[in-house]
Amino acid sequence: MQKLKVGLMGFGTVGSGVWRVLQDNSDKIIENCGFEIEASKILVRDLSKKRNGEIARGVFTDNPLEILNDENIKIVVEVMGGIEPAKEYILEAIKRGKHVVTANKALIASHGDMLLKAAKDANVKLLYEASVAGGIPIIHAIKESLSANRINSIMGILNGTTNYILSKMTSEKMEYDIVLKEAQEKGYAEADPTSDVEAFDAAYKLTILARLAFGIDVKIEDIYREGITNISPIDIEYATELGYVIKLLAIAKETNGKIELKVHPTFIPKGHPLAAVGDAFNAVYIKGNAVGELMFYGKGAGDLPTGSAAVGDIISIIREGTPNKMITQVINEKDLSNIKDMGSNQGEYYVRLLIKDIPGILGKIASLFGKYNVSLSSVIQKGKEEPAVSLVFITHETIELNVQYALTDIAKLPEVVSIANVIRVENI
Ligand code: NAP
Ligand code: HSE
Repeated sequence: MQKLKVGLMGFGTVGSGVWRVLQDNSDKIIENCGFEIEASKILVRDLSKKRNGEIARGVFTDNPLEILNDENIKIVVEVMGGIEPAKEYILEAIKRGKHVVTANKALIASHGDMLLKAAKDANVKLLYEASVAGGIPIIHAIKESLSANRINSIMGILNGTTNYILSKMTSEKMEYDIVLKEAQEKGYAEADPTSDVEAFDAAYKLTILARLAFGIDVKIEDIYREGITNISPIDIEYATELGYVIKLLAIAKETNGKIELKVHPTFIPKGHPLAAVGDAFNAVYIKGNAVGELMFYGKGAGDLPTGSAAVGDIISIIREGTPNKMITQVINEKDLSNIKDMGSNQGEYYVRLLIKDIPGILGKIASLFGKYNVSLSSVIQKGKEEPAVSLVFITHETIELNVQYALTDIAKLPEVVSIANVIRVENI
């Protein structure tokens, strides 16, 4: 049996998953690509750490040159994370004619364009299936299987940690902090959970998907981003009562030649397939002009699901043989001025105010919404808590800027204690 040597850069959650998939599924892998794939060198930071006893100690190294300068290593799998030195190592691997597989969403989102060009110039492949939605083969689907479509919209639950938190807060009425701790213990959250809960992680993934689907060289700064730290059990209770579920949705949508790019907590109708995506699962819901509606569902994180995606990329490289074939992404096709600013977005909104419960206050608030053309579809006020009570509105479809103007005026009313939350509603 012919062996193909790969160099693994990183042996944490994903690296060990790649290694495990190569071991456990070796028969299937040989059947699919004709090679036994061997991780002949594994780069780590700390050589003194206890490692998997099935691997000879000599396989581990803390010197990247042992992989980069090894002419027998044809494919480098970067699963270290971070921008540097991962970027430098990938560029060096490309320069030396090696193909690269990576799971690094932050790197691909920030420097993917440059790295893909470098790979193309060097006639090697750079594949990154594991960088978005872990085990779900969404990159391949958009790049290849859906390439005959004009993509109208992508809506994704792209972060497992936040989906786990929101799902548990909904089903078990748990507090945010307690569930976050659980998500960290289960290994879903990034080392610094800020990236998850403030939606940077989902925004990186959306950057990659939007680039593929809409051909624009979008950066994370072009994406409106709002995390889940402001979602309270009371918002979840109102959502349930109104027939919605709150999800952190990453949305890329083309309307009349303009593209909306945003990640924020969203009310979605509880009958929508995305509403049923619980626990730490991910899902990507796509509308294409020929294919119609599609939903991809699966594990977006973890050693084996992510390992499955990365090893799938290795097999694609081996099977395709002719490197340039798969580097077909065309970017910068559209002007970035086509990205819609949030103020001009149209939609429905959930607004929760804390008010002093004084007769006449509802009328004053309703007339300020009316002043800015914001029409209301539901109003709920429950209980008579002291000193303030929650007053909840769902608007009809309106322009976001009008809601912001109305709320600026409403916040000035002496009876209004605070604008407790504003959450966008997608009646998909
Ligand atoms: P991780 O568990 O922290 O593992 C990182 C590995 O890289 C460790 O083995 C570490 O060495 C090594 N490493 C880090 N910096 C290094 C350096 N400068 N030089 C040499 N080795 C270095 O990370 P992970 O969760 O596997 O994530 C890896 C990548 O996959 C990230 O880009 C992440 O965003 C992405 N990703 C992760 C998941 C997931 O489920 N975790 C899913 C999809 C994508 P030591 O072992 O010596 O510390
Ligand atoms: N922290 C990420 C998540 C890991 O929760 O989805 C996968 O990218």
